[in-house]
Amino acid sequence: MLSVLILNGPNLNLLGTRQPEIYGHTTLADVEAMCAAHGQAKGFEVTCAQSNHEGALVDAIHAAKGTHDGIVLNAGAYTHSSIALHDAIAGTELPVVELHLSNIHAREAFRHHSFIAPVAVGMICGFGAAGYTLALDALLGHLEDTS
Ligand code: DQA
Repeated sequence: MLSVLILNGPNLNLLGTRQPEIYGHTTLADVEAMCAAHGQAKGFEVTCAQSNHEGALVDAIHAAKGTHDGIVLNAGAYTHSSIALHDAIAGTELPVVELHLSNIHAREAFRHHSFIAPVAVGMICGFGAAGYTLALDALLGHLEDTS
């Protein structure tokens, strides 16, 4: 059975109460339950993790190698700053789908650049919490195409 890691970065533990006009009212627990249900319905394993710490996210990407077949990654603000996350993805060569709840290209200029994008299979952004299941389907399709 294919196994996917949903990895959320800084401040995403505040989902539901953090700037709901941008990120919506869905909590991280809701998102994780939605992803688990999606995995069950479609027959793949889903594991969820979140950290506010860059190094812990690097560790989680390293640990995913050999444990999971791919990652859906919302790196939060580290998207726009972290060469370490870029290198971790490049180093493990795991397929990563980059995910953002908001449309980062319709927001401040500093959100337009992603260090994740060059090492991601693709990116889904702007569809709120529904983006997580879209990203899961995109990753599953990629894994099936490449296996
Ligand atoms: C985000 C977009 C980032 O720019 C921001 O720093 C976040 C959330 C999103 O999901 O829309 O923390 O990744």
